[in-house]
Amino acid sequence: MSEALVSKIEALKAEHNAVILAHYYAPGDVQDVADYVGDSLGLSRTAATTEADVIVFSGVHFMAETAAILSPEKKVIMPDACAGCPMADMITAEKLAQFKAENPGAVVVTYVNSAADIKALSDICCTSSNAVNVVRTIPEDKDILFVPDQNLGSYVSKVLGRKMIMWKGFCPTHQNVLPEHVLKAREEHPDALFAVHPECRPAVVELADFVGSTTGIINFCAESDADKFIIGTENGVFHKLKKDNPDKEFFLASPVLECPNMKKNTLEKLAWCLEDMKPLITVDPEIARKAKAPIERMLEVAGSGGK
Ligand code: 13P
Ligand code: SF4
Repeated sequence: MSEALVSKIEALKAEHNAVILAHYYAPGDVQDVADYVGDSLGLSRTAATTEADVIVFSGVHFMAETAAILSPEKKVIMPDACAGCPMADMITAEKLAQFKAENPGAVVVTYVNSAADIKALSDICCTSSNAVNVVRTIPEDKDILFVPDQNLGSYVSKVLGRKMIMWKGFCPTHQNVLPEHVLKAREEHPDALFAVHPECRPAVVELADFVGSTTGIINFCAESDADKFIIGTENGVFHKLKKDNPDKEFFLASPVLECPNMKKNTLEKLAWCLEDMKPLITVDPEIARKAKAPIERMLEVAGSGGK
């Protein structure tokens, strides 16, 4: 079944001159057929530079939207347009506009896990892999509003020793990891290192040996001399971790680490979307024009990517 599906996907991809981009949280069989698998920054960079006519985005809606903003001349489709991000839904353009009106002069730094209309009201975007470097570019005398992830914001604030106003959003998947989950995993695997995503709550990040984006975590585990790791991010990264490091052992910090939206990207739906060339992801041209500038500013700032 899967082999036939993979052949079908390959043929449709060639027919439409399509490129398949997948996030590390997508199911393993989808990562295997992708042309590029990466973290949010790497995926945005690839979407901005690909020469394909069609981008098939196996991730969540805001990622496909970002690709559509960066490459408006291309067709962007995704296996399931209902694969959204609850964190992105925790802020509205109306509330952000109100905040801006009340805080003239504040710089709005927006995590890419946000909708296009939020990006359109922002000064600069960031991902988890370049958030610290992005905030470093903002003059010390400026107030910063960091949206929508309070946990990533807290991490950046701590690293840089810089106060920021945080929007109170969070990723439900990472927020559900509690310090006691990590302490239990540490007790069960005392010689393992703990690598965590900054979307986890500060009390969990505090316990880590390494903090980084999905690509950052994958690189850390590959380069480390240690052979056991407790992983504090979504379970999709295990596919790459196990493939690249067959002699190392990986343990999930908590069973809650599964994003139901990322898992909507099944191989079957990937084949159907290539067959039907839909669902098509589009952004209102005026919003796209305004959202493109903060994304492009972000792309100029260094960070990790993917393979
Ligand atoms: P990164 O791959 O950029 O670390 O993103 C994590 C995430 O939660 C994407 O939704
Ligand atoms: Fe959103 Fe969290 Fe899922 Fe990423 S893992 S798409 S931040 S809900």
